[in-house]
Amino acid sequence: MPHEPDPPPAKKFKPGSVFFRLERNKPGMLLPKKGNVSTPIEVQRKQLPIYQAKPHLLNQLRQLQNAIIIGETGSGKTTQIPQYLYEAGIGRLGMVAITQPRRVAAISLAGRVAEEKRTQIGKLVGYTVRFEDVTSSETKLKFMTDGMLLREAIGDPLLLKYTVVVLDEAHERTVHTDVLFGVVKTAQRRRRELNKIPLKVIVMSATMDVDLFSEYFNKSPVLYLEGRQHPIQIFYTKHQQSDYLQAALVSIFQIHQEAPPAHDILVFMTGQEEIEALARTCRDISKHVPDGCGSMVVLPLYASLPPVQQLRVFQPAPKSCRKVILSTNIAETSVTISGIKYVIDTGMVKAKRFNPDSGLEVLAVQRVSKAQAWQRAGRAGREESGFCYRLYTEQEFDNFLPMTVPEIQRCNLAGVMLQLMALGIPDVMNFDFMSKPSPEAVRSAVDHLELLGAVEKREGQVLLTPLGKKMASFPLEPRYAKTILLSPEYSCSEEILSIVCLLSVDTVLYNPPARRDDVLAARKKFMTSEGDHMTLLNIYRAFKKVSGNKEWCRENFVNSRNMGLVKDVQAQLRDICLKLNLKLESCGSDTASVRRCLAHGMFLNAAELQLDGSYLALDTHQPVTIHPSSVLFQAKPAYVIFNELLHTSRCYMRDLCLVDPDWLLEAAPEYFGRKLHLTRT
Ligand code: CDP
Ligand code: MG
Repeated sequence: MPHEPDPPPAKKFKPGSVFFRLERNKPGMLLPKKGNVSTPIEVQRKQLPIYQAKPHLLNQLRQLQNAIIIGETGSGKTTQIPQYLYEAGIGRLGMVAITQPRRVAAISLAGRVAEEKRTQIGKLVGYTVRFEDVTSSETKLKFMTDGMLLREAIGDPLLLKYTVVVLDEAHERTVHTDVLFGVVKTAQRRRRELNKIPLKVIVMSATMDVDLFSEYFNKSPVLYLEGRQHPIQIFYTKHQQSDYLQAALVSIFQIHQEAPPAHDILVFMTGQEEIEALARTCRDISKHVPDGCGSMVVLPLYASLPPVQQLRVFQPAPKSCRKVILSTNIAETSVTISGIKYVIDTGMVKAKRFNPDSGLEVLAVQRVSKAQAWQRAGRAGREESGFCYRLYTEQEFDNFLPMTVPEIQRCNLAGVMLQLMALGIPDVMNFDFMSKPSPEAVRSAVDHLELLGAVEKREGQVLLTPLGKKMASFPLEPRYAKTILLSPEYSCSEEILSIVCLLSVDTVLYNPPARRDDVLAARKKFMTSEGDHMTLLNIYRAFKKVSGNKEWCRENFVNSRNMGLVKDVQAQLRDICLKLNLKLESCGSDTASVRRCLAHGMFLNAAELQLDGSYLALDTHQPVTIHPSSVLFQAKPAYVIFNELLHTSRCYMRDLCLVDPDWLLEAAPEYFGRKLHLTRT
């Protein structure tokens, strides 16, 4: 039997905070949706909860240099506040930057705001994400990923182009947002000291826990956009669930049999593969449920889903048909979906985890925090009262961490440290982080950079080497930058650039699960026992040979848009190479050179086959396995390098390349002298 409904989470308000009380849209009345032709866009803007607070809000924002704005997802913070500032003439002397942790969000928000302002994207409203800059000299409102603003800060530490920086989705606490907090705070102070135009900093968040933000930004006032949350009944499972996917499936069909078809279901899961698998199962089962149950449309939602398919979740389902959305944590706050009456929360999320002792960063499926669980539940009460089924017991919930640990405290900091040093931060070990990473993690990052030759330690100081400086010019992880910089030695820079680009954009391969056999048949001709990098390279070469022919892409299950992007990205990386005077040439069919170069750049991610047929990651001696998606899955190569580790039921290596152990030894003799036990001796 379901438990008593849970008390709502205690809301913490800071004394002296400013409140704007907002009326929510009436229950049952759907909020305006994108592309809703019946409601003009001006009317849609006025219907947003934030609209009523506009005069008070502007009054405050005009006076304040720092402000924290809290408001529920969908209240209109991100799309409206930049426009309000612009319309009121605040910060007109420069640009307003609005940062987003997610690339898709930056692009779609810029599109929406341009539409609301009735201008072409790239004019007044633009966006900059990695490898894509859609702005012009007219641009005043610039949506960008937090990573991009960070890169801009390397060339312009005072951020002089901007008069306002809006750090949005601050509650997500991505590593880039966290570093930006420090960079922006410093820029603000320095501009004051140097009598430059002041920089206004607005931090926006969807969750209540903001004491830390306020404290960090000179005790800045918190402006609450208080929306009315409809009551949500929370149910826990009676017993612990050993299989949350099975539990989710059962819950979906239980609701499907009992609830009216207009009540949509949102299920929080961890990633693309399990979402696609459950979607398939749901579609199969829904064909066989008893009559009178109505039909269901099952829609996946995850960051790497092509944009057209992402948009489908926002469209209403056909009449008497239930919408079931299977989503990653992207639906927690980044996007707003109307019609949700039921939330099913598996309590799991895929996130980075880092062990500074071992130096290993893995993507792992793990428990959410209480704050995340509340955020998920909240998605059910946006338009009227709703229900949240938690697939864990109340006791388990009590043991969840109260807040999500910021990413900066659980990721490999090598890239961040390199950027901070390139920013000219004098003492990276003591950077003013809002939440400090552990000293071990910082030390481990510095060791990592030292192994790559990017830094050297001299008299207790950590200094950027000339190589490190070059590495920081690439908007890439240090190991990719290093690999590119090494490639001229192996006469294969063209190939390495292609591979790095292929790995940097969203997946270029399209794998519809229902057509598994066709996919395999089409892909066979590109597969090579040299591994996934070389297979991708073969596909890319074939793509270029047919000049990106759309029909060819369809036949070969290649995502033509993302492949097209690879070409653009390559052109940009090539420009950086030319500025650094790197020799660009192709090694033609000498693919061993390419693998050798990869081995030299990525030696920290090497694994060795053991006598019993298992693999050990050489850096940490952690047992690892080849991911089933790899072309080497059936093979047993003695030595490989891998791109990333994914921890689900086991620790999987994804994207592998076959390498020769001598190359690894060549790359870092001293390091491998310690790590390598050659099984072949
Ligand atoms: O930032 P916050 O979550 O407070 O809201 P927002 O992103 O400004 O979104 C306000 C409303 O704008 C949403 O409820 C959608 O109706 C609409 N919107 C949209 O149609 N398309 C987008 N890409 C973003 C928002
Ligand atoms: Mg927002």
